[in-house]
Amino acid sequence: MRGRFITLEGLEGSGKSTNLAHLKARLEAAGKPVRVTREPGGTPIGEQVRELLLDHRNDGMHPDTELLLMFAARAQHLQQVILPALEAGTWVVSDRFTDASYAYQGGGRGMPEERIAALEAFVQGGLQPDLTLVLDLPVATGLERAGKRSAPDRFEREQAEFFERVRAVYLARARRWPARYRVIDAGRPLPEVMAQLDAVIDEVLHP
Ligand SMILES: Nc1ncnc2c1ncn2[C@@H]1O[C@H](COP(=O)(O)OP(=O)(O)OP(=O)(O)O)[C@@H](O)[C@H]1O
Ligand SMILES: [Mg+2]
Repeated sequence: MRGRFITLEGLEGSGKSTNLAHLKARLEAAGKPVRVTREPGGTPIGEQVRELLLDHRNDGMHPDTELLLMFAARAQHLQQVILPALEAGTWVVSDRFTDASYAYQGGGRGMPEERIAALEAFVQGGLQPDLTLVLDLPVATGLERAGKRSAPDRFEREQAEFFERVRAVYLARARRWPARYRVIDAGRPLPEVMAQLDAVIDEVLHP
């Protein structure tokens, strides 16, 4: 039996990495083999692309380049890790996937959605996650948790607006395709966030 593909999305500081181990343990307790991975990255080649994408020396990177590198890393990730795992019956849980391209490159940077959709079709064919968990919380809470909050100067204000657009795209996508998405209130204390995640996972394990 083919494995299921679950993705975790949300702003920085929303708790994706924190909840990944919990999700893995929960699925394994139900007897599912689980492969945890992340984007950008997830493969040796993809991790090198991640370094290019995150390196502050590459501040001059054009948004087109950024989008193409995201999908280049994703192509490798799909072919080398995600598809073989799913075919072998392993469940794949990824810390970010293509929804992040729509949210960050689309919402954040203003890249037209059709461009992202064209690359999605090229790289993924029809493949979509079976379930996408959107860890939603106020931008300020996320930035504070991620230790990124500072005095509200103009730059920080712009940053906050960028993240507001990112958040809005995640929520809009979740509203548009409710069958694939579950929105988790990630602004709650961690035990409550985990309880919300457990309820969704129970629903997936025992439909
Ligand atoms: N529900 C919560 N309540 C309070 N603090 C939390 C909660 N969830 C996570 N944290 C803390 O917030 C910080 C950021 O969490 P985490 O690294 O999991 O976020 P992330 O979504 O992976 O962020 P990034 O996108 O930057 O990788 C960590 O210090 C974590 O312990
Ligand atoms: Mg993280």
